[in-house]
Amino acid sequence: NKIVLTGIKPTGRPHLGNYIGAIKPALNLAKELESLSIFFIADYHALTSIKNPELFKEYTYDVAATWLAMGLDPNKVIFYKQSDIPQIFELSWILSCFTPKGLMNRAHAYKAKVDENKAKNIDIDMGVNMGLFTYPILMAADILLFNSNIVPVGKDQVQHVEIARDIANAFNNCYGEIFTEPSYLIRQETAVIPGLDGRKMSKSYNNTIPLFCEPKELKNLINKIKTDSSLPNEPKNIDSPLFLLYKEFATDEQIEEMKEKFINGIPWGEVKKELFEVINSFLETPRKKYNYLMNNRHLIDEILEEGAKKAQEICIPNLNKIKEKIGCQ
Ligand code: TYM
Repeated sequence: NKIVLTGIKPTGRPHLGNYIGAIKPALNLAKELESLSIFFIADYHALTSIKNPELFKEYTYDVAATWLAMGLDPNKVIFYKQSDIPQIFELSWILSCFTPKGLMNRAHAYKAKVDENKAKNIDIDMGVNMGLFTYPILMAADILLFNSNIVPVGKDQVQHVEIARDIANAFNNCYGEIFTEPSYLIRQETAVIPGLDGRKMSKSYNNTIPLFCEPKELKNLINKIKTDSSLPNEPKNIDSPLFLLYKEFATDEQIEEMKEKFINGIPWGEVKKELFEVINSFLETPRKKYNYLMNNRHLIDEILEEGAKKAQEICIPNLNKIKEKIGCQ
């Protein structure tokens, strides 16, 4: 049985990029595959940037409610909060002893910060905490502790999964085949969902469309998506982010019709209106569930507690095996 694992960090409201890039493919896999699915909230990863306890809590519930509202069935999927599983952090230390520092120097998030500092002519490590620097090791622990085979992610997480493989290899070379080497799973068409300004949709770029914003805000945000300057009745380019988003929420028939309209020419304003309609109607039922859960947070607490117990049934024996190999048990 294959193990599918993925996580989302609560650093902001979950957005269309998170849904299309990770949640949707993960939930589809959970339905299709003869596999065990493990989905979690990477709250300690969020601590590298969110230092406000109210916000931290709010975003954590938000990510949990989002997964559940979009169809995660806690009876079929193991669903927990990372900070409830201390074994992950114990493994993280062990793995850090098998991680060359140079590998962390090359990790994207750290490198981006260093480049930004260089451009500003300030100390290269300004604003870098060790949590940010060793972030990929904790992520490797998330993945390797459960012997995950498949990690569905967007493009920005591919390097992290590759680092997890490298670390697994370093450990296995020393002690034998203990860890399973994970593979990332990516859908080429949706590996990078663009945000309002055309760059990758990202909480840190402030260009997101939150999945569960109210209809009015959703409409406003969709209207802000950047388009090219073609004239209203000129043919439109189907590589447009608007068409990409439309395809994710519309039926096959609607997609065909929209394609025709793109070829024959349709004003962008009209496309945006129709995009709003399909997303909004798709989200109508999930939004009710989301709001209900956000107003009844004890239900989320119960689900996550139960999930942590199930996760530990798997990961405690796994960690014990690892400790035995090292010689500390
Ligand atoms: P995070 O919280 O930034 O994003 C969660 C998932 O959403 C994907 N994603 C996107 N996909 C397509 N287009 C976009 N614009 C877009 N923005 C985000 C991400 O690629 C990701 O799959 N480090 C991870 C969380 C994590 C994790 C793990 C993931 C911690 N441990 C173990 C997998 C396995 C992160 O920050 O994702």
